[in-house]
Amino acid sequence: MTKKIAVLPGDGIGPEIVAQAVKVLKAMPELNLEMEEAAIGGAGYDTAGDPLPEATLKLARAADAVLLGAVGGPQYDKLDRPLRPERGLLRIRKELNLFANLRPALLYPELADASSLKPEVVSGLDIMIVRELTGDVYFGQPRGIEVRNGERVGFNTMIYSESEVRRVARVAFDIAMKRGKKLCSVEKANVLECSELWKEVVLEVSKEYPEVELSHMYVDNAAMQLVKWPKQFDVIVTGNIFGDILSDQASMLSGSIGMLPSASLDENNKGMYEPIHGSAPDIAGKNIANPLATILSAAMMLRYTFGDEANAARIEAAVRQVLADGMRTADIHTAGTKKVSCSEMGDAVVAALN
Ligand code: NAD
Ligand code: IPM
Ligand code: MN
Repeated sequence: MTKKIAVLPGDGIGPEIVAQAVKVLKAMPELNLEMEEAAIGGAGYDTAGDPLPEATLKLARAADAVLLGAVGGPQYDKLDRPLRPERGLLRIRKELNLFANLRPALLYPELADASSLKPEVVSGLDIMIVRELTGDVYFGQPRGIEVRNGERVGFNTMIYSESEVRRVARVAFDIAMKRGKKLCSVEKANVLECSELWKEVVLEVSKEYPEVELSHMYVDNAAMQLVKWPKQFDVIVTGNIFGDILSDQASMLSGSIGMLPSASLDENNKGMYEPIHGSAPDIAGKNIANPLATILSAAMMLRYTFGDEANAARIEAAVRQVLADGMRTADIHTAGTKKVSCSEMGDAVVAALN
């Protein structure tokens, strides 16, 4: 049976990196994928006046999975907030109910030198960050900028319901059961009521998972521990904003933000797959971006939405192979390795598939 993939390249380096992932998927015809492109983000605004055009949402809903590049760019930063690229991304996550965002920070041994941390600190690193994706201060009401007492104030609302915490906690515990059975819940319960409830609910859920060793950590300490000794973590579960920040930080443990893929899943494992990085306007259009996070996101799509572990592993093995062969895009380039462009990296992964 053919599987339908909505392909949403987006802005900046988005089209360049997505083209490489599409090339890899097309090199595996046995997957039986039917891919259709649509505009999102600034591209959606430019073509349809909306960062999430109706046709794009319709395509994404009808698809079995979504592959996304990145959205955003300085030319859109002055638009009214509802028209900005980032809002299109947040809306599609919310519309598709993609509440569980899996961000695996894994160090490919060949990249130990590319990390800004010492090789012994990062070697063997394999962390899964489970970030809640449809709640928190990102979506809480009220929000706005208004004048109070003669001056402007900006405000947002950090809010989680227990059902929102419970469902993402279960995803994280389930993942922990399949891995090292260690879960760290990250919050700021010493200061925030929202976090206090988060911690209570995670504790309640933990009773369903007696085999998993649960710990709790404040987010400021977690940020420090992540660079001090990251290998103490197996699975981390945290809210939307803390997860956003900690996953960018964790990406450097794997050598570059250009290496970190993600899966955003609903209750039924329908998913959207995207690198965790943004549209990188500073390097867009130069064919130098690292496409591996996007290619690895395609592998996650095969694993999580289609249950095709063998082909997911095949793509990951091909990535490992090109790194072992010494190919590096500029962001992970070190002495003695071969600098390649974005499209050359995509070609190399295709070649390594066989
Ligand atoms: P960014 O992730 O786009 O870039 C941060 C730095 O990392 C830049 O120096 C960039 O060149 C580099 N980088 C990122 N991806 C890379 C890759 N694949 N290969 C090599 N280098 C890479 O973050 P930013 O600069 O803060 O944001 C730029 C725009 O992207 C903003 O409009 C922001 O809102 C948007 N953004 C979108 C997403 C998304 O679509 N999921 C995520 C983050 C930021
Ligand atoms: C990410 C991005 C997005 C987020 C922005 C662009 C809305 O930073 O996917 O990590 O904050 O979730
Ligand atoms: Mn982010």
